[in-house]
Order: sequence, then C-alpha cells, then structure tokens
Amino acid sequence: MRLKDKVALITGGAHGIGLATAQRFAQEGARIILWDVSDQGNDVVKQLKSQGTDAIFKKVSVTNQEDVNQAVAEAHKYFGRIDILINNAGITRDRTLLKMSKQEWDDVISVNLTGVFHCTQAVVPIMKDQQYGRIVSASSNVAIRGNFGQTNYVATKSAIIGMTKVWALEFGKFNITVNCIAPGFITTAMTDLMPEEVRNQTLPHIPLGHWGVPEDIANGYLYLASDEAAFVSGICLTIDGGAAR
Ligand SMILES: NC(=O)c1ccc[n+]([C@@H]2O[C@H](COP(=O)([O-])OP(=O)(O)OC[C@H]3O[C@@H](n4cnc5c(N)ncnc54)[C@H](O)[C@@H]3O)[C@@H](O)[C@H]2O)c1
Repeated sequence: MRLKDKVALITGGAHGIGLATAQRFAQEGARIILWDVSDQGNDVVKQLKSQGTDAIFKKVSVTNQEDVNQAVAEAHKYFGRIDILINNAGITRDRTLLKMSKQEWDDVISVNLTGVFHCTQAVVPIMKDQQYGRIVSASSNVAIRGNFGQTNYVATKSAIIGMTKVWALEFGKFNITVNCIAPGFITTAMTDLMPEEVRNQTLPHIPLGHWGVPEDIANGYLYLASDEAAFVSGICLTIDGGAAR
C-alpha cells in the first residue's frame, strides 16, 4: 500500500477527479478528510467507511478562510496529523474577455486561487511540525497552451504553477514537497458543460485520440503524494494524452 496510514485532505472531493482521488487514496491505505460545498461528500464518505477506510466529510468552501482554518483544526484533532493536501477544488465561468463580468472573474479567482492559498497556509504549520508533507494542486494544461474564453480560469491555473515553485523553495527545509498536475480534457461534470461540438473539436489535438478519465489524474496525484516522489518538488506534471506543447 503506497499511502498506508497517511492522512490526506482532498478539497472538491465529492465529484469528478476529487472523488476518484479519494477512492484511489483509500485503496492505497490512506485515511481521508474530504471537503466540498456539495452534500454529495456525505455519501462518498459513507461509501469509503463501508469499505473500511477512516474518513470524515465537512461542507467547507475553500473561499472562506475562517471556515478553512476551523476545519483544518477539527481534522487535525480527529486524526492527529495531516500528511497530504490535495488542492483540487475548482470551477469555471467561461466567457471571452470582452464579455466577462467582474463577478465571473472574482468567482474563479476566489475558488481556484485564493482557495489554494487558504488551504495551503492552514495546513503547512501542521506539516512543518511533523517535518513531513506532500502538497499537490490542480493546475491545467490550459496554463501552458491558453484556451479561448478562459481568461479567469487560465490566470488561476498559471498562478498555481508559479505558487508551486515558490512553495517548493519555502517548504523544502521542512521535508514538504509541493507539486501540481496539469490535466488535459478529463470527462467530469466540469467538462460536461462544454457543447458536444466543441468537445469533438478537441480530439484531433490529442495525440492519444481520446479524453482522459478522473482516475488518470487520481493516479498522478497518488504518485506525487507517495514516498515514490520523495525527491520530486516544484514540478507540474502534465497528464493530457500528449496535447500540450
Ligand atoms: N475536468 C477537466 O478536464 C480538468 C482539466 C484541467 C484541470 N481540471 C481541474 O481539476 C480539478 C477538479 O476538476 P473536476 O473536473 O473534477 O471538476 P468537478 O466540477 O467535477 O469537481 C469539482 C469539485 O469541486 C467542488 N467545489 C467547487 N467549488 C468549491 C469550493 N468553493 N470549495 C470546495 N469545493 C468546491 C465541486 O462541488 C466539485 O465537487 C479542478 O481544479 C479543475 O480546474 C479539470
């Protein structure tokens, strides 16, 4: 088991990639702290527990710093440690720049960027005391190649790559590794929002010829969260079927 007895906090764990990650980590022996704004997180944790995994769910928006700090304190009290932070929660509010409202800009910044700031700042002191930690955040391959209609989203996903490099420098001395993943098109509720026609247009740009599934990204998170990646820090691992150039 690659995460035996490790305690992993996964944000946005009720659906999609976060859900697949919670299930994958549990298979590898991790104990799970699941956060989401969706009540579906209760069912996910119920299922994990029925399979013998110690897991807790809390309805937390990563946008609220006070709630994040309180939920980290509660989870730390329950498990006694937090080894892994997966900054996975994310949203899209797509619009071309000239049509994008300030609200659409602010919403995406507050979940995808400020949320990562809140969660990482709350968890690192615990990891520092443990002299052990693994932080992995969700970037996107659009941070590398750009994407039509995603000024707000691409801004946050590019920033994740930058923050990852800064935090790798700042936290290395505490034996904390910090990395991110840049997924390509993955079939989840987020991408279900895309019209069929637009989805089909993506296929010629993916050398492997198809979209990924949440488990493809869960396996990437798993590698970077495991001790196999003990000497890996400050990188962005692209998992996109070869699409990014
Ligand atoms: N699906 C893709 O093609 C793709 C590609 C690149 C990057 N990503 C990134 O991967 C991550 C997961 O995406 P997904 O496709 O599984 O999306 P998803 O919409 O299926 O799941 C995202 C989860 O985050 C939760 N969430 C939203 N706002 C939240 C908040 N304020 N606080 C806590 N939880 C919140 C949602 O309720 C949902 O459960 C995101 O950061 C996304 O940007 C996805």
